[in-house]
Amino acid sequence: MPRTILVTGGAGFIGSHTCVELLRVGHEVVVLDDHSNSCPEVLERVAKTAGRPVAAAHVADVRDRRALDEVFDRHPIDAVIHFAAKKAVGESVRIPVTYYDINVGGTTTLVSAMHDHGVHRLVFSSSCSIYGNATTVPLTEDSPAAPTNPYATTKWTCERILADLCRHVPEMRVLALRYFNPAGAHPDGELGEDPRGVPNNIMPFLTQIAVGRRDELSVFGDDYPTPDGTGIRDYLHVMDVADGHRAALDHIDDEPGMRVLNLGTGRGASVLDLVTVFEEVTGRPIPYRVTARRPGDVAELVADPTKAMAHWGWTARRDLAAMCRDAWNFQQRNPYGYAP
Ligand code: NAD
Ligand code: WQD
Repeated sequence: MPRTILVTGGAGFIGSHTCVELLRVGHEVVVLDDHSNSCPEVLERVAKTAGRPVAAAHVADVRDRRALDEVFDRHPIDAVIHFAAKKAVGESVRIPVTYYDINVGGTTTLVSAMHDHGVHRLVFSSSCSIYGNATTVPLTEDSPAAPTNPYATTKWTCERILADLCRHVPEMRVLALRYFNPAGAHPDGELGEDPRGVPNNIMPFLTQIAVGRRDELSVFGDDYPTPDGTGIRDYLHVMDVADGHRAALDHIDDEPGMRVLNLGTGRGASVLDLVTVFEEVTGRPIPYRVTARRPGDVAELVADPTKAMAHWGWTARRDLAAMCRDAWNFQQRNPYGYAP
Protein backbone atom coordinates (compact mmCIF):
# COMPACT_ATOMS: atom_id res chain seq x y z
CA MET A 1 0.00 0.00 0.00
CA PRO A 2 1.51 3.38 -0.97
CA ARG A 3 2.41 5.48 2.00
CA THR A 4 4.06 8.78 2.89
CA ILE A 5 7.59 8.09 4.10
CA LEU A 6 9.91 10.54 5.84
CA VAL A 7 13.49 9.79 4.80
CA THR A 8 16.12 11.50 6.94
CA GLY A 9 19.46 11.73 5.15
CA GLY A 10 17.61 11.12 1.88
CA ALA A 11 20.19 12.99 -0.20
CA GLY A 12 23.05 10.75 0.94
CA PHE A 13 24.51 7.69 -0.75
CA ILE A 14 22.08 5.02 0.48
CA GLY A 15 19.24 7.50 1.05
CA SER A 16 19.16 8.74 -2.55
CA HIS A 17 19.03 5.22 -4.00
CA THR A 18 16.33 4.30 -1.50
CA CYS A 19 14.25 7.38 -2.45
CA VAL A 20 14.31 6.21 -6.09
CA GLU A 21 13.12 2.75 -5.09
CA LEU A 22 10.34 4.13 -2.84
CA LEU A 23 9.14 6.45 -5.61
CA ARG A 24 9.25 3.57 -8.08
CA VAL A 25 6.90 1.44 -5.99
CA GLY A 26 4.47 4.34 -5.48
CA HIS A 27 5.27 5.82 -2.06
CA GLU A 28 5.26 9.57 -1.43
CA VAL A 29 8.67 10.63 -0.12
CA VAL A 30 9.49 13.53 2.19
CA VAL A 31 13.21 14.16 2.69
CA LEU A 32 14.89 15.85 5.64
CA ASP A 33 18.62 16.44 5.17
CA ASP A 34 20.99 19.16 6.37
CA HIS A 35 23.35 18.44 3.43
CA SER A 36 26.31 18.22 5.77
CA ASN A 37 27.47 15.30 3.59
CA SER A 38 25.45 15.70 0.39
CA CYS A 39 24.22 18.34 -2.01
CA PRO A 40 20.64 19.39 -2.86
CA GLU A 41 21.19 18.59 -6.56
CA VAL A 42 21.04 14.90 -5.67
CA LEU A 43 17.28 15.20 -5.23
CA GLU A 44 16.95 16.56 -8.80
CA ARG A 45 18.79 13.48 -9.97
CA VAL A 46 16.50 11.31 -7.85
CA ALA A 47 13.52 12.88 -9.66
CA LYS A 48 15.14 12.32 -13.07
CA THR A 49 15.99 8.71 -12.30
CA ALA A 50 12.64 7.85 -10.69
CA GLY A 51 10.54 9.79 -13.22
CA ARG A 52 8.87 11.85 -10.48
CA PRO A 53 10.08 14.05 -7.64
CA VAL A 54 9.99 13.65 -3.88
CA ALA A 55 6.94 15.36 -2.37
CA ALA A 56 9.01 17.75 -0.27
CA ALA A 57 12.60 18.38 0.76
CA HIS A 58 13.33 20.00 4.13
CA VAL A 59 16.84 21.30 4.75
CA ALA A 60 17.24 20.80 8.49
CA ASP A 61 19.26 19.06 11.15
CA VAL A 62 17.57 15.95 12.52
CA ARG A 63 18.36 17.21 16.03
CA ASP A 64 16.22 20.30 15.38
CA ARG A 65 13.02 19.43 17.18
CA ARG A 66 11.11 22.45 15.85
CA ALA A 67 11.96 21.52 12.26
CA LEU A 68 10.80 17.95 12.91
CA ASP A 69 7.52 19.17 14.38
CA GLU A 70 6.94 21.22 11.24
CA VAL A 71 7.59 18.21 9.02
CA PHE A 72 5.18 15.99 10.98
CA ASP A 73 2.56 18.80 11.08
CA ARG A 74 2.77 19.39 7.33
CA HIS A 75 2.86 15.83 6.00
CA PRO A 76 0.80 12.74 6.87
CA ILE A 77 3.88 10.63 7.65
CA ASP A 78 3.18 6.88 7.95
CA ALA A 79 6.74 5.69 8.53
CA VAL A 80 10.26 7.03 8.89
CA ILE A 81 13.52 5.73 7.46
CA HIS A 82 16.37 7.21 9.47
CA PHE A 83 19.64 7.41 7.52
CA ALA A 84 20.89 10.80 8.76
CA ALA A 85 24.09 10.20 10.69
CA LYS A 86 27.83 10.59 10.54
CA LYS A 87 29.57 7.43 9.38
CA ALA A 88 33.37 7.78 9.22
CA VAL A 89 35.00 5.38 11.66
CA GLY A 90 38.35 7.23 11.78
CA GLU A 91 36.70 10.60 12.35
CA SER A 92 34.57 9.11 15.13
CA VAL A 93 37.74 8.29 17.06
CA ARG A 94 38.84 11.93 16.80
CA ILE A 95 35.47 13.57 17.62
CA PRO A 96 33.49 10.93 19.53
CA VAL A 97 31.19 13.39 21.32
CA THR A 98 30.03 14.85 17.99
CA TYR A 99 29.21 11.30 16.88
CA TYR A 100 27.18 10.65 20.03
CA ASP A 101 25.44 14.00 19.62
CA ILE A 102 24.43 13.54 15.97
CA ASN A 103 23.89 9.79 15.79
CA VAL A 104 22.38 9.11 19.22
CA GLY A 105 20.94 12.59 19.89
CA GLY A 106 19.51 12.71 16.36
CA THR A 107 17.78 9.39 16.90
CA THR A 108 16.29 10.27 20.30
CA THR A 109 15.05 13.66 19.02
CA LEU A 110 13.48 11.92 16.02
CA VAL A 111 11.71 9.18 17.99
CA SER A 112 10.48 11.71 20.53
CA ALA A 113 8.93 13.80 17.73
CA MET A 114 7.51 10.65 16.10
CA HIS A 115 5.91 9.62 19.36
CA ASP A 116 4.34 13.04 19.96
CA HIS A 117 2.91 13.04 16.42
CA GLY A 118 1.56 9.50 16.62
CA VAL A 119 4.04 7.98 14.13
CA HIS A 120 5.21 4.55 15.21
CA ARG A 121 6.97 2.91 12.28
CA LEU A 122 10.73 3.32 12.01
CA VAL A 123 13.40 1.73 9.84
CA PHE A 124 16.79 2.42 11.38
CA SER A 125 20.19 2.31 9.61
CA SER A 126 22.43 0.10 11.67
CA SER A 127 25.76 -1.37 10.67
CA CYS A 128 27.80 -4.55 10.60
CA SER A 129 30.44 -2.56 12.47
CA ILE A 130 28.54 -3.29 15.70
CA TYR A 131 29.84 -6.90 15.51
CA GLY A 132 33.42 -5.62 15.84
CA ASN A 133 36.11 -8.26 16.10
CA ALA A 134 33.92 -11.21 15.21
CA THR A 135 35.34 -14.55 16.19
CA THR A 136 33.11 -16.63 13.94
CA VAL A 137 31.69 -15.82 10.51
CA PRO A 138 29.14 -15.71 8.98
CA LEU A 139 27.48 -13.37 11.44
CA THR A 140 23.89 -13.94 12.45
CA GLU A 141 21.74 -11.31 14.14
CA ASP A 142 22.39 -13.19 17.40
CA SER A 143 26.17 -12.89 17.14
CA PRO A 144 27.40 -10.78 20.05
CA ALA A 145 27.80 -7.05 19.55
CA ALA A 146 31.29 -5.78 20.32
CA PRO A 147 31.76 -2.31 18.86
CA THR A 148 35.40 -1.25 18.59
CA ASN A 149 35.04 2.46 17.79
CA PRO A 150 32.73 5.38 18.71
CA TYR A 151 30.84 5.20 15.39
CA ALA A 152 29.93 1.55 15.93
CA THR A 153 29.07 2.29 19.56
CA THR A 154 26.60 4.98 18.47
CA LYS A 155 24.79 2.46 16.26
CA TRP A 156 24.70 -0.18 18.99
CA THR A 157 23.52 2.42 21.53
CA CYS A 158 20.69 3.47 19.18
CA GLU A 159 19.66 -0.17 18.75
CA ARG A 160 19.46 -0.62 22.53
CA ILE A 161 17.52 2.62 23.01
CA LEU A 162 15.05 1.59 20.29
CA ALA A 163 14.65 -1.91 21.78
CA ASP A 164 13.96 -0.37 25.17
CA LEU A 165 11.48 2.06 23.66
CA CYS A 166 9.64 -0.83 21.99
CA ARG A 167 9.38 -2.61 25.34
CA HIS A 168 7.58 0.40 26.84
CA VAL A 169 5.60 1.72 23.85
CA PRO A 170 3.60 -1.27 22.59
CA GLU A 171 2.55 0.35 19.31
CA MET A 172 6.15 0.97 18.17
CA ARG A 173 7.42 -1.03 15.19
CA VAL A 174 11.15 -0.71 14.61
CA LEU A 175 13.29 -2.50 12.06
CA ALA A 176 17.04 -2.07 12.52
CA LEU A 177 18.85 -3.06 9.35
CA ARG A 178 22.49 -3.95 9.80
CA TYR A 179 24.08 -3.23 6.41
CA PHE A 180 27.38 -4.89 5.64
CA ASN A 181 29.46 -3.04 2.99
CA PRO A 182 27.19 -1.11 0.59
CA ALA A 183 28.87 -0.35 -2.74
CA GLY A 184 28.02 0.37 -6.36
CA ALA A 185 25.63 2.92 -7.84
CA HIS A 186 22.36 3.23 -9.71
CA PRO A 187 22.87 1.59 -13.14
CA ASP A 188 21.54 4.73 -14.90
CA GLY A 189 24.69 6.55 -13.81
CA GLU A 190 22.96 9.58 -12.25
CA LEU A 191 23.36 8.53 -8.62
CA GLY A 192 26.34 7.08 -6.82
CA GLU A 193 28.82 7.49 -4.00
CA ASP A 194 30.53 10.89 -3.87
CA PRO A 195 32.56 11.14 -0.68
CA ARG A 196 34.09 14.45 0.35
CA GLY A 197 37.89 14.50 0.50
CA VAL A 198 39.85 11.25 0.57
CA PRO A 199 37.43 8.30 0.45
CA ASN A 200 37.33 6.16 3.58
CA ASN A 201 35.74 3.25 1.76
CA ILE A 202 37.51 1.15 -0.81
CA MET A 203 35.11 1.23 -3.79
CA PRO A 204 35.15 5.02 -4.31
CA PHE A 205 38.92 4.87 -3.87
CA LEU A 206 39.14 2.35 -6.73
CA THR A 207 36.89 4.39 -9.04
CA GLN A 208 38.90 7.55 -8.30
CA ILE A 209 42.13 5.73 -9.23
CA ALA A 210 40.52 4.44 -12.43
CA VAL A 211 39.37 7.93 -13.42
CA GLY A 212 42.84 9.36 -12.75
CA ARG A 213 42.18 11.30 -9.54
CA ARG A 214 44.42 9.07 -7.40
CA ASP A 215 47.61 7.15 -8.13
CA GLU A 216 47.45 3.89 -6.26
CA LEU A 217 45.59 1.89 -3.66
CA SER A 218 47.12 1.24 -0.27
CA VAL A 219 46.14 -2.31 0.64
CA PHE A 220 45.81 -2.15 4.39
CA GLY A 221 47.66 -5.29 5.45
CA ASP A 222 48.26 -8.68 3.82
CA ASP A 223 48.95 -10.60 7.03
CA TYR A 224 45.37 -11.29 8.14
CA PRO A 225 44.37 -14.93 8.71
CA THR A 226 42.55 -15.06 5.34
CA PRO A 227 43.51 -17.04 2.20
CA ASP A 228 45.38 -14.13 0.54
CA GLY A 229 46.11 -12.26 3.78
CA THR A 230 43.90 -9.24 2.96
CA GLY A 231 40.67 -8.29 4.72
CA ILE A 232 37.44 -10.00 3.71
CA ARG A 233 34.13 -8.08 3.53
CA ASP A 234 30.58 -8.72 2.41
CA TYR A 235 30.11 -6.10 -0.33
CA LEU A 236 26.48 -5.45 -1.10
CA HIS A 237 25.02 -3.51 -4.05
CA VAL A 238 23.41 -0.24 -2.96
CA MET A 239 20.40 -1.11 -5.17
CA ASP A 240 19.93 -4.26 -3.08
CA VAL A 241 20.16 -2.12 0.08
CA ALA A 242 17.48 0.18 -1.38
CA ASP A 243 15.32 -2.85 -2.15
CA GLY A 244 15.84 -4.02 1.45
CA HIS A 245 14.18 -0.79 2.61
CA ARG A 246 11.28 -1.36 0.23
CA ALA A 247 10.88 -4.83 1.77
CA ALA A 248 11.19 -3.44 5.31
CA LEU A 249 8.27 -1.07 4.72
CA ASP A 250 6.22 -3.89 3.17
CA HIS A 251 6.75 -5.97 6.32
CA ILE A 252 6.94 -3.41 9.12
CA ASP A 253 3.40 -4.17 10.28
CA ASP A 254 4.00 -7.95 10.38
CA GLU A 255 4.60 -7.71 14.13
CA PRO A 256 5.05 -4.99 16.74
CA GLY A 257 8.26 -4.32 18.65
CA MET A 258 11.89 -4.28 17.63
CA ARG A 259 13.39 -6.54 14.99
CA VAL A 260 16.96 -6.66 13.73
CA LEU A 261 18.01 -7.94 10.31
CA ASN A 262 21.33 -8.26 8.51
CA LEU A 263 21.49 -6.96 4.94
CA GLY A 264 24.37 -8.76 3.26
CA THR A 265 25.06 -11.26 0.50
CA GLY A 266 26.62 -14.00 2.63
CA ARG A 267 29.62 -13.97 0.27
CA GLY A 268 32.98 -12.56 1.29
CA ALA A 269 35.55 -10.97 -1.01
CA SER A 270 39.10 -10.02 -0.06
CA VAL A 271 40.68 -6.70 -1.01
CA LEU A 272 42.66 -8.47 -3.75
CA ASP A 273 39.52 -10.28 -5.01
CA LEU A 274 37.82 -6.90 -5.32
CA VAL A 275 40.79 -5.37 -7.16
CA THR A 276 40.82 -8.31 -9.60
CA VAL A 277 37.10 -8.09 -10.36
CA PHE A 278 37.29 -4.30 -10.68
CA GLU A 279 40.15 -4.56 -13.18
CA GLU A 280 38.33 -7.25 -15.19
CA VAL A 281 35.08 -5.31 -15.35
CA THR A 282 36.52 -1.86 -16.07
CA GLY A 283 39.63 -2.77 -18.06
CA ARG A 284 41.55 -0.26 -15.92
CA PRO A 285 44.68 -1.33 -14.05
CA ILE A 286 44.69 -0.63 -10.31
CA PRO A 287 48.25 -0.10 -9.08
CA TYR A 288 48.51 -1.02 -5.43
CA ARG A 289 51.02 -1.20 -2.62
CA VAL A 290 50.65 -3.24 0.55
CA THR A 291 50.91 -1.02 3.63
CA ALA A 292 50.34 -1.49 7.35
CA ARG A 293 46.99 -2.60 8.71
CA ARG A 294 44.52 0.23 9.28
CA PRO A 295 43.93 0.64 13.03
CA GLY A 296 40.59 -0.82 14.06
CA ASP A 297 40.20 -3.03 10.95
CA VAL A 298 39.15 -6.64 11.37
CA ALA A 299 40.05 -9.69 9.29
CA GLU A 300 36.62 -10.79 8.12
CA LEU A 301 33.00 -9.60 8.26
CA VAL A 302 30.46 -11.66 6.32
CA ALA A 303 26.71 -11.76 6.91
CA ASP A 304 24.45 -14.68 7.41
CA PRO A 305 21.57 -13.15 5.42
CA THR A 306 19.10 -16.03 5.86
CA LYS A 307 16.79 -14.19 8.27
CA ALA A 308 15.87 -11.47 5.73
CA MET A 309 15.26 -14.21 3.16
CA ALA A 310 13.14 -16.31 5.53
CA HIS A 311 11.06 -13.37 6.82
CA TRP A 312 10.72 -11.18 3.72
CA GLY A 313 11.99 -13.19 0.78
CA TRP A 314 14.67 -10.48 0.44
CA THR A 315 17.97 -11.50 -1.06
CA ALA A 316 20.84 -9.58 -2.61
CA ARG A 317 20.56 -10.17 -6.37
CA ARG A 318 23.57 -8.25 -7.70
CA ASP A 319 27.16 -9.50 -7.62
CA LEU A 320 30.55 -7.88 -7.13
CA ALA A 321 30.98 -7.39 -10.89
CA ALA A 322 27.72 -5.39 -11.02
CA MET A 323 28.89 -3.25 -8.07
CA CYS A 324 32.18 -2.49 -9.85
CA ARG A 325 30.50 -1.85 -13.22
CA ASP A 326 27.87 0.51 -11.80
CA ALA A 327 30.28 2.38 -9.49
CA TRP A 328 32.63 2.86 -12.45
CA ASN A 329 29.79 3.98 -14.74
CA PHE A 330 28.82 6.68 -12.19
CA GLN A 331 32.44 7.82 -11.78
CA GLN A 332 33.03 7.97 -15.54
CA ARG A 333 29.90 10.04 -16.09
CA ASN A 334 30.68 12.20 -13.05
CA PRO A 335 34.48 12.29 -12.73
CA TYR A 336 34.27 14.85 -9.92
CA GLY A 337 31.09 13.50 -8.43
CA TYR A 338 28.14 15.84 -8.08
CA ALA A 339 30.41 18.92 -8.21
CA PRO A 340 29.83 20.91 -11.43
P1 NAD B 1 25.87 9.56 3.70
O1 NAD B 1 26.78 10.41 4.51
O2 NAD B 1 26.06 9.49 2.23
O3 NAD B 1 24.35 10.01 3.96
C1 NAD B 1 23.91 10.56 5.17
C2 NAD B 1 23.03 11.77 4.86
O4 NAD B 1 22.56 12.29 6.09
C3 NAD B 1 23.76 12.88 4.13
O5 NAD B 1 22.97 13.37 3.07
C4 NAD B 1 23.96 13.95 5.21
O6 NAD B 1 23.97 15.26 4.65
C5 NAD B 1 22.77 13.70 6.10
N1 NAD B 1 22.99 14.11 7.49
C6 NAD B 1 24.06 13.84 8.28
N2 NAD B 1 23.89 14.37 9.50
C7 NAD B 1 22.67 14.95 9.49
C8 NAD B 1 21.92 15.66 10.46
N3 NAD B 1 22.40 15.89 11.70
N4 NAD B 1 20.70 16.11 10.12
C9 NAD B 1 20.19 15.90 8.89
N5 NAD B 1 20.87 15.25 7.92
C10 NAD B 1 22.09 14.78 8.23
O7 NAD B 1 25.89 8.10 4.34
P2 NAD B 1 25.31 6.72 3.78
O8 NAD B 1 26.44 5.89 3.34
O9 NAD B 1 24.20 6.98 2.83
O10 NAD B 1 24.77 6.10 5.13
C11 NAD B 1 23.41 6.21 5.51
C12 NAD B 1 23.21 5.54 6.85
O11 NAD B 1 23.59 4.18 6.75
C13 NAD B 1 24.02 6.13 8.00
O12 NAD B 1 23.23 6.10 9.16
C14 NAD B 1 25.19 5.18 8.12
O13 NAD B 1 25.71 5.17 9.43
C15 NAD B 1 24.54 3.86 7.77
N6 NAD B 1 25.46 2.84 7.24
C16 NAD B 1 26.23 3.14 6.15
C17 NAD B 1 27.10 2.18 5.64
C18 NAD B 1 28.02 2.48 4.48
O14 NAD B 1 29.03 1.80 4.33
N7 NAD B 1 27.72 3.46 3.62
C19 NAD B 1 27.16 0.91 6.25
C20 NAD B 1 26.34 0.64 7.35
C21 NAD B 1 25.49 1.63 7.83
C1 WQD C 1 36.97 -2.52 3.14
C2 WQD C 1 38.26 -3.33 3.10
C3 WQD C 1 40.04 -2.36 4.39
C4 WQD C 1 40.43 1.24 1.92
C5 WQD C 1 33.30 0.54 6.86
C6 WQD C 1 32.77 0.81 8.23
C7 WQD C 1 31.52 0.00 8.46
C8 WQD C 1 30.52 0.22 7.35
C9 WQD C 1 31.12 -0.04 6.03
C10 WQD C 1 29.20 2.10 8.06
C11 WQD C 1 38.96 -3.44 4.46
C12 WQD C 1 40.39 -2.36 2.92
C13 WQD C 1 40.03 0.02 2.45
C14 WQD C 1 41.73 1.34 1.35
C15 WQD C 1 42.10 -0.98 1.84
N1 WQD C 1 30.08 1.59 7.31
N2 WQD C 1 40.86 -1.07 2.40
N3 WQD C 1 42.51 0.23 1.32
O1 WQD C 1 36.14 -0.70 6.96
O2 WQD C 1 34.93 -2.77 6.10
O3 WQD C 1 33.65 -0.82 6.78
O4 WQD C 1 32.30 0.78 5.88
O5 WQD C 1 28.51 1.55 8.89
O6 WQD C 1 30.99 0.44 9.66
O7 WQD C 1 33.73 0.44 9.19
O8 WQD C 1 34.97 -0.69 4.70
O9 WQD C 1 35.53 0.08 2.44
O10 WQD C 1 36.79 1.07 4.40
O11 WQD C 1 37.23 -1.27 3.75
O12 WQD C 1 42.86 -1.96 1.79
O13 WQD C 1 42.13 2.42 0.89
O14 WQD C 1 39.19 -2.64 2.24
O15 WQD C 1 41.17 -2.63 5.18
O16 WQD C 1 39.55 -4.70 4.52
P1 WQD C 1 35.04 -1.30 6.20
P2 WQD C 1 36.12 -0.11 3.79
